[in-house]
Amino acid sequence: MCGIIGIVGKEAVSDRLVDGLKRMEYRGYDSAGVCTVENSQLIRRRAEGKLFNLVNVLKSDDAPGHTGIAHTRWATHGAPTTSNAHPHATGEVALVHNGIIENFKPLRDELIKRGRQFESETDTEVVAHLVSEQVEDGKSPEEAVQAVLPQLRGAFALAIAFRSHPGLLIGARLGSPLVVGYGDGETYLGSDALALAPLTQQISYLEEGDWVVVTEDGATIYDNQNKAVEREVTTSGVSAATIEKGQYRHYMQKEIFEQPTVVAQTLQSYIRPLEQQVALPQMGFDLESIKRITIVACGTSYYAGMVAKYWFETFARVPVDLDVASEFRYREPVLEPGGLALFISQSGETADTLAALRHSKENDQKIAVVVNVPTSSMAREADLLLPTHAGPEIGVASTKAFSCQLAVLAALAAHLAVVKGKMSREEEMDVVRHLTEAPAALNAALAYDEAIADMAHLVAPARDVLYLGRGPDYPLALEGALKLKEISYIHAEGYASGEMKHGPIALIDEAVPVIVLAPSGPLFEKTVSNMQEVRARGGKIVLISDADGLAEAGEGCMATIEMPRVHPLIAPLVYAVPVQLLAYHVAVAKGTDVDQPRNLAKSVTVE
Ligand code: M6R
Repeated sequence: MCGIIGIVGKEAVSDRLVDGLKRMEYRGYDSAGVCTVENSQLIRRRAEGKLFNLVNVLKSDDAPGHTGIAHTRWATHGAPTTSNAHPHATGEVALVHNGIIENFKPLRDELIKRGRQFESETDTEVVAHLVSEQVEDGKSPEEAVQAVLPQLRGAFALAIAFRSHPGLLIGARLGSPLVVGYGDGETYLGSDALALAPLTQQISYLEEGDWVVVTEDGATIYDNQNKAVEREVTTSGVSAATIEKGQYRHYMQKEIFEQPTVVAQTLQSYIRPLEQQVALPQMGFDLESIKRITIVACGTSYYAGMVAKYWFETFARVPVDLDVASEFRYREPVLEPGGLALFISQSGETADTLAALRHSKENDQKIAVVVNVPTSSMAREADLLLPTHAGPEIGVASTKAFSCQLAVLAALAAHLAVVKGKMSREEEMDVVRHLTEAPAALNAALAYDEAIADMAHLVAPARDVLYLGRGPDYPLALEGALKLKEISYIHAEGYASGEMKHGPIALIDEAVPVIVLAPSGPLFEKTVSNMQEVRARGGKIVLISDADGLAEAGEGCMATIEMPRVHPLIAPLVYAVPVQLLAYHVAVAKGTDVDQPRNLAKSVTVE
């Protein structure tokens, strides 16, 4: 996805636009650009690559003006070059866009037939030309935007500046988030409250189909019928300070170390330690009647869902279907009316997951959402909102959101088991006790940071790495492989440890490190047997287990990573820490860009 920001103010805006982009760089960092309006001129500066390239351009060639828009890009249509960088402009208008204009091709063909000349390969540029045509025909900015919006298919958040109207911006949203911020004699547009954090805390969230006229005096919001509407002004809790790196070298490192605190914060909303009860928010439907759960998510959130499947089925004996969101709708899933569809997302904006949510809603499913951004699209469309309280996650690799998702999902599974009469009072008390132990166990796991840093050089030179786990630790193996791939660019695969012998074992040789996740517990012996099969074929093993597990099976391993001894319920939370730290230290050893790995964006708002 991309990040957009706009300011209509009384003072120069370009520095503040760039500052806003810095806070949104996690949304995309292929190129960046700004455009201001000054003396009836559009002044545009763009640069490919990271934001500092744009900062350098502006150092030698500033963009003066009190009105402006800016963009940080994650490329969809067209390579990450300067000519494809936003803002896209004609003589009359400049605009920035987050999303995809799906019907850009026929629109572009028509525009070319009408003599318009394009300078980029993007889908976005058609919108600039369409609005420009209207303005050139003598329409006001409002009339121009009203005429163009119905022609666009797909998803968009737009901010548009007009050469002849300094002091005015128009924003529009459909499928991609856009907020309006209210300042003192200034008004803002932004992809999220985070972008506007140092400017204002007073925020309105636009609804689907809304468009907005922004001046320094405030904003007038219209719905998709062009009727002026009021949207609530809320005070955003996001402060600029919560998104600083502090003492840490990278956001990812900071976020890994925040886990004991944020998991404890999250659990506060889901358990009552004194009463030793699981406590879920009020729901507008009868949970007891739920006969089947469909879990849908992407990436790391999907792996959290995979762990939850074990819990829902073991505790509550409710069957669970689990889908990667991008595949969900296309397999035409059978959704019995009244089923529970559960969506898991850090951002709450992932386009695949959001589309799956809407599909489920159309098919009479109750919608539960585990989400870290409580103002996100998914949160707004949920029947049951289950927020994680991880705080803003900036590193592209998801870490603290994952452990908080697991905390919420464990509580939800236990609650479902209780209401269904499948979990006794004693068992519920046990679950609460183990969950309460999680923050301390996470702290204990983090104490091995240095030991993990010391052995990262054993993995860093590898071309391929395998991760093995069994039961709820199998999704952790997948998560470990994903973390390593995305930030260190080493090819890695996660396997159910028992599945190795059905094919992947052929890959084993002394050049392929095999990371085995094997906490002591009912599945330990079996996982270790699979590990021995690897060792017998010359595989180099890194065993992650507790002191008992390492004493029993650690001998002969290339390296071992000790974890605290924990109950199997919280093992997936705790074992997330070593796989995160290992990926982190390998990436640092390789010198990759940990927080902004190549080709990625923090959340993906295109399908
Ligand atoms: O915001 P979401 O949780 O919906 O995002 C889903 C995935 O895009 C995300 O987990 C991605 O896989 C992360 N980069 C993994 O670290």
